[in-house]
Amino acid sequence: MSRSYPQTRLRRNRFAKFSRNLVRETTLTSHDFIYPLFIIDGKNQRQAIDSMPGQFRLTLDELAREVEELLALDIPAIALFPNIDPALKTLNGDAAFNPEGLVPRAVRMLKERFPEMGVICDGALDPYTSHGQDGIVDENGYVLNDETITALSQQALTCAEAGADVIAPSDMMDGRVGAIRRSLDEAKFINTQILAYSAKYASAYYGPFRDAVGSASNLGKADKFNYQMDPANTNEALHEVRMDIDEGADMIMVKPAMPYLDIVRRVKDEFGVPTFAYQVSGEYSMHMLAIQAGVLSEAVILESLMAIKRAGADGILTYFAKTAAQKLKQQNS
Ligand code: PBG
Repeated sequence: MSRSYPQTRLRRNRFAKFSRNLVRETTLTSHDFIYPLFIIDGKNQRQAIDSMPGQFRLTLDELAREVEELLALDIPAIALFPNIDPALKTLNGDAAFNPEGLVPRAVRMLKERFPEMGVICDGALDPYTSHGQDGIVDENGYVLNDETITALSQQALTCAEAGADVIAPSDMMDGRVGAIRRSLDEAKFINTQILAYSAKYASAYYGPFRDAVGSASNLGKADKFNYQMDPANTNEALHEVRMDIDEGADMIMVKPAMPYLDIVRRVKDEFGVPTFAYQVSGEYSMHMLAIQAGVLSEAVILESLMAIKRAGADGILTYFAKTAAQKLKQQNS
């Protein structure tokens, strides 16, 4: 009696490396990455961030050194996040509109020295407010939508005037993309792009970031549930993205990334616009702590990024940008 063999052997294509390379559907390159960087005032300092092993708060001279390395690795863009002197924090986040503030100074330095590096500035007040919320609050701590939009437009202009290539509103106010677009256009910044944090969830994965920018203690026990999205929702994410595209967003973002890959896929399928995902601080730290404990191998770094791209992301904001670009370079050499 003859044995019945499988008619189709999917393992045949997997047998040799050349063949695996040929049939691969998704490729990761350093062009896919945006590196979020934390900055501080001062000189010659790389301040370790305890909750994010391997990440630092950089003074501007150190930032310049870092960006030189990132350019050599073909990383196209960075996103700047300031850790502001607590003495400069106010109820309304006024330091966000200071043309001599840390972010505008960083942007001017970068665009002068490294014009080819894409510079993305966040649009939100949380690094600057004494209460740690992303916008202007009323007496109950409720973030006021329309007042906040006015402030965000002013912040966006301050960044654009300094030379920012992209404004990335991360605040989740309604109508902010349209308002920022109008302010930029009226001031003739017609080519300043908007990367909208469109589907940004009220996530516990942001914990280490709040430590990095120093907003955790300001926020205290308060939360952001009345403006960031409920992790239970997916149709609402499409609604948010549609709104931001209609208001003039050039690129949209889903955040966090790995726990929300279903959202990335739905958004990409529905709209087909440049779609980004943010592998946030908590995702980074989970991986790093597990790697440091010897529980996971470093291979999870590229695997996690590949998974995000496979789900439909055109690009990824990730604290692994530099490490991943180095690994990809080694693989290809
Ligand atoms: C705030 C902002 C947050 C992140 C980016 N911009 C945190 C928050 O909404 O509280 C999180 C990024 C990360 O966790 O890496 N506007």
